[in-house]
Amino acid sequence: MKLRRSIVIGAVAAATVGALTIAPAVASLTAPSPADQTLRDLGRRHGLAIGTAINVDLLNDTTQPQYKQIASTQFSTVSPENVMKWESVEPTQGTYDWSKADAFVKFAQQNHQLIRGHVLVWHNQLPKWLTDGVTAGTITKTQVRALLKKHITDEVAHFKGKIWQWDVVNEAVSDPWETNNVIKLRDDASKGFWYNNYGPDYISDAFKFARAADPHALLFYNDYNIDAFGSQGADDKAQFVYNMVKDLKSKGVPIDGIGSQGHLSTRYGNFDSIQIANAQNKFASLGVATAITEADVRSLMTDALKAGDSNAVNEAFQAQAENYSNLMQGCLAAPHCLSFTVWGFDDKNNWTTTTDLGSGPGGEALAAIYDANYQPKRALNALKADLAYTGEPYVRDRIPQHPSR
Ligand code: G3I
Repeated sequence: MKLRRSIVIGAVAAATVGALTIAPAVASLTAPSPADQTLRDLGRRHGLAIGTAINVDLLNDTTQPQYKQIASTQFSTVSPENVMKWESVEPTQGTYDWSKADAFVKFAQQNHQLIRGHVLVWHNQLPKWLTDGVTAGTITKTQVRALLKKHITDEVAHFKGKIWQWDVVNEAVSDPWETNNVIKLRDDASKGFWYNNYGPDYISDAFKFARAADPHALLFYNDYNIDAFGSQGADDKAQFVYNMVKDLKSKGVPIDGIGSQGHLSTRYGNFDSIQIANAQNKFASLGVATAITEADVRSLMTDALKAGDSNAVNEAFQAQAENYSNLMQGCLAAPHCLSFTVWGFDDKNNWTTTTDLGSGPGGEALAAIYDANYQPKRALNALKADLAYTGEPYVRDRIPQHPSR
């Protein structure tokens, strides 16, 4: 069922529901609840694609059929959580294995979902043959340059015409706590692989290689901790990314978008929706699209939360819903924000359940919008309400982005 954008709480305009026009006085009583509609349909009211990361293996897991059911119905865009990463597609040098990535693309196409390709250049999840070869000196820096070009060219060409947005370069920028409050391109031993072995021009070259291989995909720079601007000085990661993209664009590098991952935790301050909208709009002022690309909101797993104490659960889930909502409202209020993607949608499989985020493995978890039994959490309804109860003048249709040349 499709709701027209004129349905706004308290609005005088009539709402059109299917073929019926409902008078305003009756609309509030008879309009269907947003909870009964999909995120995908609600996003359509604003031209906003709503997405999730997909774990391809779970699409065939018969012990949890809800995964595939929700993945195929709630979302209009999907991102491969792992299967397009370099270690997945070229586990042995010179031998590609596209099987899982192709299965992911097939799933998306069957469900009429747009694809965010993820990810071409990252310091993480590189094939072992590459990192070991560089460490051992059997792969030289000259060869590294040729290998990156080949990787991007071959992967983008393999999926040519099927990808809406590519995350071309991911997480190239340091965090303030890593580099003494002065942000820079990552150049440390563990995360500076590309800077150290290719040189700083790896970023501009990556976008050029990707554009040459698919002229129609939107090419994104993607990072976390850029949800809002801070001091706008040397310690402000969002400002660094803004300056970097401005510089790339001034040099004619074909970059079309900035993705803000949106990995949040209720234990931190995070941001209000106006700060997030301001950041999205400031990035867009560079002439690029924006997107929320990996939203999730973790809870610090206190003993009370682990024990399922209802007060602790209530507190955590309210804070979580507020943070999801802030991200969504910030995106909605910025018309160049083309998509809002959650990084997994259930607490059973979300990556935070096994990852050590500074509190031990699973120490910050319960980050998703459905619980571990695939029941909707407060955060899901908050997102649906944001999509349903908004419209002109503050929320407008999305402004399409065309690939830059
Ligand atoms: O493939 C192996 C498998 O063979 C093995 O049996 C299993 C046992 O641990 O591990 C498997 O690898 C895991 C891989 O996911 C695939 O499931 C890795 O251990 C695990 O570290 C890896 O985690 C992924 C993480 O990126 C790696 O940094 C997460 O699933 C994925 O959600 C996460 O996604 C990243 C984005 O790409 C970029 N932004 C941050 C985001 C969250 O960290």
